[in-house]
Amino acid sequence: MTTDATDQVDYDEAELLASHRYAEPLVVAGVRCHGGFDDEGRYVSPRTAHRVPAIAAWQARHRRDFGTELLHLPLDTWPEHYPNVAQARFLIDSGVAGPVIANLTRIGTVEGFGGMIRHSPIPDMRRVVDEDTRGTALAHLGAGLFEAHARDEAGHDDEGGHEHMWFAARDIAFDNPVTEDARALMLERMGIVPPGGGAVDPAALRAQALAHRRWPVSVDFDLEVLVTRMVRLLLIEISAFHTFAWAEELLADGDLVAGDGQAARLVSYIRADETPHVDYLRTALSELRDRTVVGDDGSRHSGAELVGRLWDDAVAQSVGPNRRQMLDTMWHEVRHAVGDRPGAGDLLARFDELGSVRRRDDGTWVEAAAA
Ligand SMILES: [Fe+2]
Ligand SMILES: [Fe+2]
Repeated sequence: MTTDATDQVDYDEAELLASHRYAEPLVVAGVRCHGGFDDEGRYVSPRTAHRVPAIAAWQARHRRDFGTELLHLPLDTWPEHYPNVAQARFLIDSGVAGPVIANLTRIGTVEGFGGMIRHSPIPDMRRVVDEDTRGTALAHLGAGLFEAHARDEAGHDDEGGHEHMWFAARDIAFDNPVTEDARALMLERMGIVPPGGGAVDPAALRAQALAHRRWPVSVDFDLEVLVTRMVRLLLIEISAFHTFAWAEELLADGDLVAGDGQAARLVSYIRADETPHVDYLRTALSELRDRTVVGDDGSRHSGAELVGRLWDDAVAQSVGPNRRQMLDTMWHEVRHAVGDRPGAGDLLARFDELGSVRRRDDGTWVEAAAA
């Protein structure tokens, strides 16, 4: 479905949440999911009738007014998914699908957490930004963009979103492998939810962030929290394209998993829905980067300096500690699944051999070539 180009830069929430008219809705295992198909049978993402042309118009306007390129980071900033396709295929072939199932469960659960974005406090941009922000993505975060993003990830009303779609892909490929109890244990083991399923206290998180501010104290704290969250989210959204490629290749293999490729198609729909997330986030961050942030005391701060600081922190965290934590989690998940079955040692040795990274005995990770 083609979306008409437009110069319109002001939208209300209803417009940014409006979907195309579908010839056919997306229904998976009897559950209506978001999005649908056009007359030619092509998948069309939800809530993109105006949102996608709006983002294109904001981007064009920003390039015209500021003459800068939008913030971005190439996908090869991050290494391939671990375990990689060869490793995952080997596990499934060896009758150890558990880690792949756990990983799909983790991804779906984390996608569902994306619904939290709608609760982000957003300061009045006219107060904290010197230049005009009307007709920008920045001005529309609380006027539809966050809400659309939240609904895409967590679903809305009786319509399933990405959380449901990942679980459906898993259930199609592996024949409903996870009971509710098993899912709870799995998420605890991977550190996705604290033991007992309790929630993290938002007030404690806020106090911690306040004690470790990266911006001058005169600058609105909510703005710093907002930009921190958006930068982290953008990096997750970009790097997730490795996960999509991994899952699509694996789930498309009819010799390996059930469902005649339906699970892989579902993942391709999710991937299509993510593009507007990447695009609005990097647009809004670029709009702030190229403006001047004003403190409570009238002090003025370069947006490039402030956004850049949080950006550098988040990139370092993403490719460093977060990456290592993910590797450790999946490594333990594989050991857990293999257990002490006969031939466990040989199986694990072969699994490690197929990887592009290897865990050494001291717990550090190295490129396979160096191991
Ligand atoms: Fe998503
Ligand atoms: Fe997303």
